[in-house]
Amino acid sequence: MHSFKTIGVVGVGAMGKGIVQIAAQAGLTVLIHDQQLSALHAAREALEKTWQTLVAKGKLTDVAAAGALGRVHIAQTLGELADCDLVIEAIIERLDAKQALFQALEAVVSPQCVLVSNTSSLSITAIASACAKPERVAGYHFFNPVPLMKVVEVIDGLRSDPAAGDALMSLTQTLGHTAVRAKDMPGFIVNHAGRGLGTEGLRAVQEGVTSFEGVDAIMREQCGFRMGPFELMDLTGVDVSHPVMESIYHQFYEEPRFRPSPITAQRVAGGLFGRKVGVGFYDYPDGKKRESPLTEIPTPDHLPPVWISPAHAQGHAMAVQLFKALGVTIQTGSHPEAESLIVVTPFGQDISTAISQQGLDAARTVGVDTFGTILPAKRRTLMVSPATTQQWRDAAHALLARDQVGVTVIQDSPGFVAQRILATIVNIACEIAQQQIATPADIDRAVSLGLNYPAGPLALGDTLGAKQIFEILTNMQAVTGDPRYRPSLWLQRRVQLGLSLLQPAATT
Ligand SMILES: NC(=O)c1ccc[n+]([C@@H]2O[C@H](COP(=O)([O-])OP(=O)(O)OC[C@H]3O[C@@H](n4cnc5c(N)ncnc54)[C@H](O)[C@@H]3O)[C@@H](O)[C@H]2O)c1
Repeated sequence: MHSFKTIGVVGVGAMGKGIVQIAAQAGLTVLIHDQQLSALHAAREALEKTWQTLVAKGKLTDVAAAGALGRVHIAQTLGELADCDLVIEAIIERLDAKQALFQALEAVVSPQCVLVSNTSSLSITAIASACAKPERVAGYHFFNPVPLMKVVEVIDGLRSDPAAGDALMSLTQTLGHTAVRAKDMPGFIVNHAGRGLGTEGLRAVQEGVTSFEGVDAIMREQCGFRMGPFELMDLTGVDVSHPVMESIYHQFYEEPRFRPSPITAQRVAGGLFGRKVGVGFYDYPDGKKRESPLTEIPTPDHLPPVWISPAHAQGHAMAVQLFKALGVTIQTGSHPEAESLIVVTPFGQDISTAISQQGLDAARTVGVDTFGTILPAKRRTLMVSPATTQQWRDAAHALLARDQVGVTVIQDSPGFVAQRILATIVNIACEIAQQQIATPADIDRAVSLGLNYPAGPLALGDTLGAKQIFEILTNMQAVTGDPRYRPSLWLQRRVQLGLSLLQPAATT
């Protein structure tokens, strides 16, 4: 079993510095090397400042801070890393540069030394292919900022010795982080699982369903996400997010589930990168996001009774409960009366399809999303068809906003906004499990810690109902004809067998 006491970190930019910080704080001796000598001195000074700040905040003692700094040593040449048990590479994201570095390291370190890469997007197997001992190479993928993002992906390349990965798993514990284990596949776990939110949000906007802000508000206030996809892209930088979307799409040979959008390509071309340049999907005058004025709630003279279509039993029950709580008169009976607002509650269907299948009066039919409320909702989604008239749209809006909960009115969409995005996120996680890239438990751990979603995607699927997620995807595929919505076999089989999405196969 490897034991890591003295480690080398090569490349002390944003990531390397963070890795050095947590390693030195955990008691390891850390040798730092960078092709730029000035970066080495700057990194050590920046770390000293960070530790002083932590002391001032009472988060670290003087003694611990001095100890950590005393354990960080500058290695001006690669040769000075000879005694390291482990070298973590965090240099520029280029295969040729990483391969050259690993070759040079092999000429210096002991035969037992483990070499790992912090790459986000390159293949560990490809990096290792340049080495005389590819079995000593693994992936060790931290997230930015390293001290705060408490998850690390340990990646086994095709020729990695599992013992190296095992040792990295236990080192991660020493560092105070959570390790998850992944196969060397594009995006590993987190960057693979993270495709759903952005690509499906973009797809909904591209279809004209609602605005960027509309999608973000629904994901935050209806679904409990910390940020919607467009706020997140503005924070990460659209110039960073768009190439990742393209790269994962191409690496999976044009998998339709990951199809990127011309919307972000345009924004990259135009330099609208997000917060860092002051303009992205939102404007950031003085660094702060400019909020749009709130939508006014219509005040029609007359509020009609509602007739709720029984076609979707679960949606019907939820909508009855909602409108009752709002004090709205509900018209019972098998057909809507002439003066009633007609409400449909489809899962994965658009309302045009529901109207045509159920033979409803299109002018006064609206859709209400009764799915995806994992917290007491602060927002509701109201959907109209191309035939819904303003009068009935306003009436529905006023009724749904009676208790001052925000209402987002969207155009017709298979799966509203919340359904389609949540189902996509769950489906992609199911596919990661199906491809055995990681265990279901590690997929959920990685996503909740690495992406800060309100829950792991497989647990989320269980909570929302795997059967319902399957129904949403199947209906979306039927309405759109788009294979991006085809359900993963992991999802399909667990629904067929009545198993949890977190359930691994009984025997493997
Ligand atoms: N920034 C992120 O959010 C993030 C997150 C996870 C992983 N990563 C990965 O971590 C790695 C580093 O990213 P970063 O954001 O810290 O980059 P960075 O540009 O901030 O730092 C890179 C450092 O490496 C040095 N360097 C470049 N080529 C070198 C070489 N051949 N030999 C020695 N030093 C060299 C540079 O001088 C610089 O100090 C990349 O592989 C990146 O994909 C980045």
